[in-house]
Amino acid sequence: MTDSADQPTLDNLLSEVRTFPPSAEFAAAANAHAEMYSWASADRLEFWAEQARTLLDWDTPFTEVLDWSGAPVARWFADGRLNACYNAVDRHVAEGRGDRVALLFEGEPGDTRTLTYADLKSEVSRAANALTALGVRTGDRVAIYLPMIPEAVVAMLACARVGAIHSVVFGGFSAEALRSRIDDAQASLVITADGGYRRGKPSALKPAVDEALGGAADALGPIGDAPASPVHHVLVVRRTGQSVAWTQGRDVWWHDALAAASDVHEPVAVEAEHPLFILYTSGTTGKPKGIFHTTGGYLTQVAFTHLNVFDLKAETDVFWCTADVGWITGHSYVTYGPLINGATQVIYEGTPDTPHQGRWWEIVAKYGVTILYTAPTAIRTCMKWGDSIPAGFDLSSLRVLGSVGEPINPEAWMWYRRVIGHDRTPIVDTWWQTETGAIMITPLPGVTSTKPGSAQVPLPGIRAEVVDEMAQPVPNGSGGYLVLTEPWPSMLRGIWGDQQRFVDTYWSRFEGLYFAGDGAKKDDDGDIWLLGRVDDVMNVSGHRLSTTEIESALVSHPMVAEAAVVGATDATTGQAVVAFVILRSEYRERVDEVGEGADVAAELRNHVAKEIGPIAKPRTILVVAELPKTRSGKIMRRLLRDVAEHRTVGDVTTLADSSVMAQIATGLGGGS
Ligand code: PRX
Repeated sequence: MTDSADQPTLDNLLSEVRTFPPSAEFAAAANAHAEMYSWASADRLEFWAEQARTLLDWDTPFTEVLDWSGAPVARWFADGRLNACYNAVDRHVAEGRGDRVALLFEGEPGDTRTLTYADLKSEVSRAANALTALGVRTGDRVAIYLPMIPEAVVAMLACARVGAIHSVVFGGFSAEALRSRIDDAQASLVITADGGYRRGKPSALKPAVDEALGGAADALGPIGDAPASPVHHVLVVRRTGQSVAWTQGRDVWWHDALAAASDVHEPVAVEAEHPLFILYTSGTTGKPKGIFHTTGGYLTQVAFTHLNVFDLKAETDVFWCTADVGWITGHSYVTYGPLINGATQVIYEGTPDTPHQGRWWEIVAKYGVTILYTAPTAIRTCMKWGDSIPAGFDLSSLRVLGSVGEPINPEAWMWYRRVIGHDRTPIVDTWWQTETGAIMITPLPGVTSTKPGSAQVPLPGIRAEVVDEMAQPVPNGSGGYLVLTEPWPSMLRGIWGDQQRFVDTYWSRFEGLYFAGDGAKKDDDGDIWLLGRVDDVMNVSGHRLSTTEIESALVSHPMVAEAAVVGATDATTGQAVVAFVILRSEYRERVDEVGEGADVAAELRNHVAKEIGPIAKPRTILVVAELPKTRSGKIMRRLLRDVAEHRTVGDVTTLADSSVMAQIATGLGGGS
């Protein structure tokens, strides 16, 4: 850990003595009770079976709960059949809740749309018919590349309705990143938009799709040796009205396709283990992993957690999860969890500071948001902007606050509680991952006395441990690696097209245990504190980025001979990307002559944005003559992290050339 005052250090974690029990009133009315822990621990499988039966509607009820004979691939509720979209939409209408508002949409320019569950049913039915008319069949993959508009949710649900597997690609990813995800999943259709609104102006999306698919000429056949794109059609939502290039025969307007489609559609009941979606996330190699989730178990756990961790009262609450559907949080706590539970939720297209830094709080006040779920980086940013901004809005509707995506430092937690929650609302710090599908470690707001900065305890029905190198549980007061010791319903079922990587990444470090990749500590009460990644994965603003992926992007630029990337502690974004690059000699000379360092950094940052997306741009690029390597050639990132975090450089004795760090420090004018 670091010695920055803003970050949770081992010392201040251990000295955290503040606890906040729920009020008696909150506890009395809460959905979850302390007895859930004993129930689940007495009969974990029956506990989950009961959740699956009560939270979901099954076309064919299941009789088996868990089949772990094919470990590490679990099968939950495998002989049952159901449809995810039916559960999220139709049954609310069938049970008389059609007039309830499902989505309160706020566009960045201030336009709004309200969709009831009945509206949603008609939209998803039309969209499902449109997909079918365009040739999409059960089991096909559909890529979704959209802004945060209602169509994003409708598109996901329409895929689920026909049993197609969606692969949502975050709109901030580049054409190149989109192309590799389309190819890996062999998606046959892409759903996109002309653009979306971001920071006060339209931001185009369709050109990236055109580029990813190889341009307009591709419709006529492959260019040269390039393999033909698997994509037959592109459905385009008109959001901004900006002009778009059009490939006849391939591109279809969403509004035309839906207008031509019937609003009657029978959802396709699939097996509980039918894949629901693929979502790509960064791993420790350059190639993103297509994490795939299936239907019955995933929906059970997202619905259970959404109901109990946020204490959702569907008839009165207004839920708002600020995540984009491009991330797992947007899958589980925008599209599936809230809708399965029949909630009313806000979705917002834009950034928190457009057109002013109070935009989020204005939205909370406008819609009477009662439950807010966001990321520490956003909390720290708002903290930086000052207390007076949220103070200008009526936040009295809020009753539960959630945090996700990265460790939340106690200072930010306390600020969230005091300034946003007015010292009244419980805060749930929820630990989970793309791979876990749903929340795993968290307080329950009506049960747990919360501690600033700790995710605390595994949920009922979830088993987690902190272990040492030998896979032995560490005693209270010690640190180690976070593992999950029993299968859980929403666990990933694998990596699309690469089951060996699934086994190697998660199941090889410790025999029979799922290795999460996070360091953690148990305090004297046995509560779990997450300490960040222990592998080459960085967490920037709650988004996962791979050091290797960014290094590959950097070395693909003709100027770069070698690159090493580290995640350096950053007070706002948690970590920031810092890159050390060695230039090819012909460019090095040029830089030496004309001192073009700044231009080189700008050029390389743009190159990374083009290869991966703007979120992956290094905050700092340092041009160096050498990189610190061990005798076996492994880059010692630990030492580079010391430089990036302005610390005294640690032990250099294992370096092949121990003078390298001194050279780097000199070249940087003392290591900045
Ligand atoms: O390092 C942990 C961190 O985010 C990683 C998972 O990232 P991703 O798959 O993108 O999913 C993020 C949203 C669920 C984890 O391995 N992380 C997530 N939540 C927390 C966290 N670290 C500390 N505390 C959390 N509450």
